[in-house]
Order: sequence, then C-alpha cells, then structure tokens
Amino acid sequence: MRKKLIAANWKMHLVPGEARALIAALMADLGRETFTDREVLVAPAAILIPEVKDALKQSPIMLGAQNMFYEEKGAFTGEISPTMLAAYGVTHVIIGHSERRHIFGESDEMIGLKVRAALDHRMTPIMCVGETQEEHDSGRALEVVLRQMEGGLGSLSSDEAGGIVMAYEPVWAIGTGRTATPEQAESIHGAIRGAFNERFGHSPAQIVRILYGGSVNADNVDSLLSRPDIDGALVGGASLKADSFARIVRARTAK
Ligand code: 13P
Repeated sequence: MRKKLIAANWKMHLVPGEARALIAALMADLGRETFTDREVLVAPAAILIPEVKDALKQSPIMLGAQNMFYEEKGAFTGEISPTMLAAYGVTHVIIGHSERRHIFGESDEMIGLKVRAALDHRMTPIMCVGETQEEHDSGRALEVVLRQMEGGLGSLSSDEAGGIVMAYEPVWAIGTGRTATPEQAESIHGAIRGAFNERFGHSPAQIVRILYGGSVNADNVDSLLSRPDIDGALVGGASLKADSFARIVRARTAK
C-alpha cells in the first residue's frame, strides 16, 4: 500500500510569528496521533524555513520547500539552491507549481532540470502538472499533463521514478473553490500512473504517489482520497488554518 501524503503549500503567506503559531496549533490539534498510513508535510515560504524547522522539532511533520533553482551556487541573484535547502533538513521540494509556470514563466525544460537537481541532492521532488481552464474546456487536459510529465521527468531512471511525488493540480481549480470531481481527478491520476507504467515499468508506477491539489478542503477531502489513484493532497488555502488542515490530515480513505 502506498502511504498517503498530505502536504501544505503555504505559498506567499505568514510571517515568522504566525508560522510558529500555526505549527503549534497544528501540533496541539493532531496531538500524539500517529498515523501509520499517511505522512504530513508543510512547505513554507523559503525565508520561514529556519523558523518552521525549529517549530517542528519533536514532530513527525516533514519540512518542504515551494521552489528552488537547479544550480548549486553562483551568480543567480534572488535564487535558493538545493544545497541550501538540504542544509536546513528540507526533504521535499515542490517543483513546477502552476504559479511558477504561469506567473514566473518556468518552462518544462527548466522544471526538468529542477527535478534532476532535487534528486541529485537527495530531496524528493513534488512535481506539479495541470491544465488551464482553456485547455480543460478544449479537451486537452490529458495531452497537456503528459507533455508536462515528459518535460519534467525526461532524465529519470526507473529506480528514481518511483521515489518522486506527482501532483495533479488543474489550474482552474486552484484557489477558485472549484474542485475537480473525484471522478475527473481519478481519471487523470490513472492516466499519469499509466504513463509511468509505460515509461518506467510496473513497479515504479505502483510506488509513485500522485497527489491532487486545487481547492481541497475539509469537506471534499474524504471523497477525493477514497479514490484508489489519489494518494494524497497538496493543499493551499485550507492549510493556513490549523483546524481545517488537521481535519484534512485526518481524511477518511478507502481501505
Ligand atoms: P488551493 O488549495 O488554495 O486551491 O491551492 C492549491 C495549490 O495550488 C496547492 O499547491
């Protein structure tokens, strides 16, 4: 069985005191609950990473980053390297989020280099794919997702492929309150797993975790996570409140 992964993407929110308070409230809410069938991750803005790392001491919650550059060091003003993230104990990096693709112009090629760099530094990439509203309306969702996968995963070996995390985040569902239906998401997740099977073989396709993101909340998480190919959630807005994120962490899933 694949462990579920419930990941918070805080995006560009919170200052250090707020981040610390949110982690404290989350840890108080989840208490000593131990989940054997799921993992929990928070990805704060890069500048909050030291604060959040400290606040998470003694907690099983894992620390992620929202982005990074692919070079180790050099004249790249404003960027953060994989080495820097790894030095702070970051284990997972979100790569190719639609906001990076659409607001900051990241290409499939650049995302491929970042996925490669994350693996080279022993961090798990959470590679995001997803179609825009227009691509969705014109029936091109799957075509777009497969193209983004090809660009992002081109350098991976079969051994590496099973260890990454994919996130399907339809752009029209992000921050809009319009979640993909469990059927819509399951159909794309199944196709992503099928593409893994074709390219990397049966075993990586069975191991790889595919998260859904886009307006996940306490009310819709159970139905999404009951689908066999939906291995977790990447949560934006609803991860900024301890009670809603704790409820999402406790999602009921199919046995
Ligand atoms: P929302 O949950 O706010 O729709 O954001 C989803 C997302 O982009 C997570 O990476």
